[in-house]
Amino acid sequence: GQRQLLRGRVLNFHADPVNEADTEAYDYFADGALIVADGKIEAIGDYDALKQPGLTEVDHRPHLLMAGFIDTHIHFPQVQVVASWGDQLLDWLNNYTFPEEVRFADQGHADAMARAFFDLLTSHGTTTAMSFCSVHAGSADAYFTEAARRNMCMIGGKVMMDRNAPDGLRDTPRSGYDDSKALIDRWHGRGRAHYAITPRFSITSTPEQMEMAGALATEHPDCFVQTHLSENKDEIAFTKSLYPQARDYLDVYERYGLVGPKTFLGHAIHLEDREIASLAERGAHPVFCPTSNLFLGSGLFDDGGLREQGITNAIATDIGAGTSYSMLQTLNEGYKVLQLQGQKLHPLRAFHWITRGNAVAMGMQDRIGTLHAGTDADIVVLNTSATDAMALRSQRAETLSEELFILQIMGDDRSVEQVYVAGRAQKGVDLPPARALRS
Ligand code: GUN
Ligand code: FE
Repeated sequence: GQRQLLRGRVLNFHADPVNEADTEAYDYFADGALIVADGKIEAIGDYDALKQPGLTEVDHRPHLLMAGFIDTHIHFPQVQVVASWGDQLLDWLNNYTFPEEVRFADQGHADAMARAFFDLLTSHGTTTAMSFCSVHAGSADAYFTEAARRNMCMIGGKVMMDRNAPDGLRDTPRSGYDDSKALIDRWHGRGRAHYAITPRFSITSTPEQMEMAGALATEHPDCFVQTHLSENKDEIAFTKSLYPQARDYLDVYERYGLVGPKTFLGHAIHLEDREIASLAERGAHPVFCPTSNLFLGSGLFDDGGLREQGITNAIATDIGAGTSYSMLQTLNEGYKVLQLQGQKLHPLRAFHWITRGNAVAMGMQDRIGTLHAGTDADIVVLNTSATDAMALRSQRAETLSEELFILQIMGDDRSVEQVYVAGRAQKGVDLPPARALRS
């Protein structure tokens, strides 16, 4: 295919930076470029060093190129749940979220929502997400079909839930297992798709279903596992009443073999010491969901405390309890949550987190979250002066960190100038029809 030379300011991470002086951790090319060919990054460096005849040049100056954003916890069937008023977690689920997810039994609805969902991710600069689908296998088919149509690296799974949910939103231990297994066979490893075994949370799965989820995890060790952990005090109390033998909330998942380095646990706010030690020992990943945790009044995620124990935290939007698709807005709220606990989120560490950091948590840093040669060409092009307020503020920015921080606090989808998925520009480009890709 054609080889492209993308020119602009280029920021790429090698490790989690402490601050701007930590130049071992990142490269910044003020007049930089990427050579992109066959969906991959072929080279990264200074524009003058990379320019050569035969390349199709795209000039993105003065914008900033970095790896596409990664959202590690989001609910695809909650596109129309965002901004539902008044409740905390359990009432919010019962009053707003479960009734909405029932609608995904309709395949036409699931297909239409998948298109909208991927449009939203892309316009906000997110090129990879790990998503909860609804209980219906067809919702996961809609999700992976749309991802394939766009050639996006996507992780997802149908939620397993067999109790404490309304009619039309429950599977059974057997059907949850069979449907998940069929989806794994159909989608896992096909193109850029990865499956996540997805018991929704302890309240909505019987011990029999947890056992089936554990069996799937054992049979498919290369699949992810995603669920929720210790988000809300009432949720924790209810969980303990449903699993009286468990030492604590995490122990429910541990008993069924669901906690390991491929496990992502949304929220993980109200943790006991034993749970923290076990998360560290097992290499599992708590997921910080700042806009959601504030919106539902769930609590403050202790990023610093968990990191101190050697835990690799991920960060995510958690739409539709989360309030923005933007990983920039997620960082904005995340910064404030850490401020309330006397912790700091340096902008270089923040941008590392939503790119390479989340990829490291997923064990995928050799493919995504990076602009290194040989990796997938998922790239976001960012405008640090996208609004009048940002432009005015940016006039006073003297360092890269200051400029990144303006983006971290004030940025959103208006700052996303362009997005490349596997080397293909997404804005203003026609996609192949969905039907052609359905198996
Ligand atoms: N716990 C179980 N299900 C959900 C969900 O859909 N959103 C959030 N925020 N927490 C949950
Ligand atoms: Fe969630």
